Amino acid sequence: MRNFVHAIPTKLYFGEGQIRRLDELLRPFGRRVLLAYGGGSIKRIGLYDTVKEILDKGGYTVTELSGIEPNPRIGSVRRGVELCRENKIDVILAVGGGSTIDCCKAIAAGVYYDGDLWEMVAGDHELLKALPLVDVLTLAATGSEYDAGGVISNLETKEKLGNVYTYPAASICDPTYTYSVSAYQTAAGTADIMSHVFEGYFSRTEDSSLSDYIAEGILKTAIKYLPVALSEPTSYEARANLMAIASVACSGIPAYGKQGTGWPCHSMEHELSAFYDITHGVGLAILTPRWMRFILKKDPSCAWRFVRFAKNVWGLSGDDETLATAGIDALENFFREAGIPMTLTELGIGEEHVAEMAAHANPDGYLKNAFVPLTTEDIEEIYRACL
Ligand code: NZQ
Ligand code: ZN
Repeated sequence: MRNFVHAIPTKLYFGEGQIRRLDELLRPFGRRVLLAYGGGSIKRIGLYDTVKEILDKGGYTVTELSGIEPNPRIGSVRRGVELCRENKIDVILAVGGGSTIDCCKAIAAGVYYDGDLWEMVAGDHELLKALPLVDVLTLAATGSEYDAGGVISNLETKEKLGNVYTYPAASICDPTYTYSVSAYQTAAGTADIMSHVFEGYFSRTEDSSLSDYIAEGILKTAIKYLPVALSEPTSYEARANLMAIASVACSGIPAYGKQGTGWPCHSMEHELSAFYDITHGVGLAILTPRWMRFILKKDPSCAWRFVRFAKNVWGLSGDDETLATAGIDALENFFREAGIPMTLTELGIGEEHVAEMAAHANPDGYLKNAFVPLTTEDIEEIYRACL
């Protein structure tokens, strides 16, 4: 087991009705609030009105930033920074999914950033000085409510880059806000949660038992509750369990004591989103089983982990050779049954950018520490297997 440091300063307020804490969470930071949200889902579910009422009652001065895109763009970051500077904002309140929260993290840091904001997004840095950020989560997926990361896109340069900015001071996670999330986004969000676990679970570190069992528990929870959330979207039990695992899955906890892998599926997916603006979790669901099959074939010495995955996560039994592939088959079927399109062709994606995407996904051999190290040619082959 490797050394690790764990420190997440974000306070999670989990459960129905936690929005009543909003005033007390914002108040210490000041009265000038940037209220940021996406394309309007928070208005349709009545959350916008609830938040506005709390802010009005509390005497806050509110500036709004609306229209933050899924796969948030650098343009929204720039708009947000300008609004914060012009209105001398004290605290940012992000209400929405991972895209809104990610964008707000970059805005919070961008306010203090001296230089071009795309340089900040693309730059090599640790946490940055930032405005305080509070969020109200409405989609269980990215874990952005409980990490410092943010992923920002630049459609002109076809880049989608993850970086660290700042942790939210507090996140309100009320599962009832996710009742309205579409079947497509619910399935995609769950695929994202599962992928965050896979990126650490499939590692060469064999003696980090705690993280392995945490990872398997998260995966089993996802497998149990995604079908329930799809057939019964207002099941509190299902939505609450999905929301809870989302925050833990991307927190680093399921990878305690493990060697970093470079997150191969995320590296490959971010290129797909950068080139084709697709839903992150859908790209991951398509890539993951193909990546698994590829590495199992490339280096059969990794089969032990796929056998464990089949047994402990899917509850399968049989001989090791059958089990190694049976777990992967089970995963692919699970995503298919959840209604996720399972080929890139279905998303209108062809071979045209495969070489370029593979080169970007593996700059300077970045994925050499992956569970099975990947070359640029390997990545091209994985993309082709997804077509
Ligand atoms: O924009 P609105 O109208 O709010 O609609 C959104 C959007 O269309 C909708 N939605 C959100 N909450 C809803 C809802 N619809 C109905 N009811 C609700 N309660 O869902 C759509 C997708 O929202 P988005 O925020 O884009 O989804 P998600 O939370 O999956 O975020 C995806 C982004 O996060 C990044 C991804 O790359 C992608 O850009 N990631 C961030 C990470 C992080 N910060 O740690 C890690 C992840 O691996 C990921 O890369
Ligand atoms: Zn992800």
